[in-house]
Amino acid sequence: MYEQIHEAATYIRSKISNTPTVGVILGSGLGSLADAIEPEAEIPYHDIPNFPVSTVQGHSGKMVIGKLGGKTVVVMAGRTHYYEGYTMQEVTFPVRVMKAIGVEALFLSNAAGGMNPSYKIGDIMLIKDHINLFPEHPLRGPNDERLGTRFPDMSEPYDHKLLALAKEIAQKQSLPVQTGVYIGLQGPTFETPAEYTWLRIIGGDAVGMSTVPENIVAKHGGMRVFAASIITDLGITGQVNTVSHEEVLAAANEAAPKLCTLVSAMIAEM
Ligand code: HPA
Repeated sequence: MYEQIHEAATYIRSKISNTPTVGVILGSGLGSLADAIEPEAEIPYHDIPNFPVSTVQGHSGKMVIGKLGGKTVVVMAGRTHYYEGYTMQEVTFPVRVMKAIGVEALFLSNAAGGMNPSYKIGDIMLIKDHINLFPEHPLRGPNDERLGTRFPDMSEPYDHKLLALAKEIAQKQSLPVQTGVYIGLQGPTFETPAEYTWLRIIGGDAVGMSTVPENIVAKHGGMRVFAASIITDLGITGQVNTVSHEEVLAAANEAAPKLCTLVSAMIAEM
């Protein structure tokens, strides 16, 4: 895998002159952050050697490199998911490549179902911790010490300083935000009422089908991570919670500008 990572990284470096130190992976409906960038290069995933290409509607699939908030950033508009059939190594490959081209801080966003009864559709939840319920671990298998240690510490999965900065900026922008625990599981079904209840009992505020594998691989590689969810639907015990992919995309699109503004300000100030 090490060689494949470096082959992809070498290709990307050949297209750019500045080294990105910040990486952003955009989830469902959040592609508009890519439009806020002054682009230096736009590289479709299918041009990058060894890169996985997403099949889901709403995930366009290109890497945009350019300036945001005065810093060189690399944004992945569109991600692959485990439920699409990719292996965990494929899902997290772009994180490895970002690390290889120089990224030190990774920003992740996603759409998620809210289980905390104080949450509303359209809320932004800053992720302070996660629970990994994926059936397979991205670091399972022989460990390549060039990529990271065998047993990574996970005492600070989401960087405290970036979280504090996000809260400070949100307050300045009069943007209300929630802070909570994200549970990652494989999907593609949304949860049954009993599952939402159980996920709430074990400590989740929101649930979704991404972010956790990328976080783990980023921590393995020694990166700082910030992540936020847009609450696109609710799974609240005692209520009827129907949900469709269309509703998720619509709610994510509507709330996306708030998250874009927050993330752009964070990148400018970090
Ligand atoms: N469950 C799982 N994944 C999701 C949800 C949900 O309710 N909403 C958006 N992604």
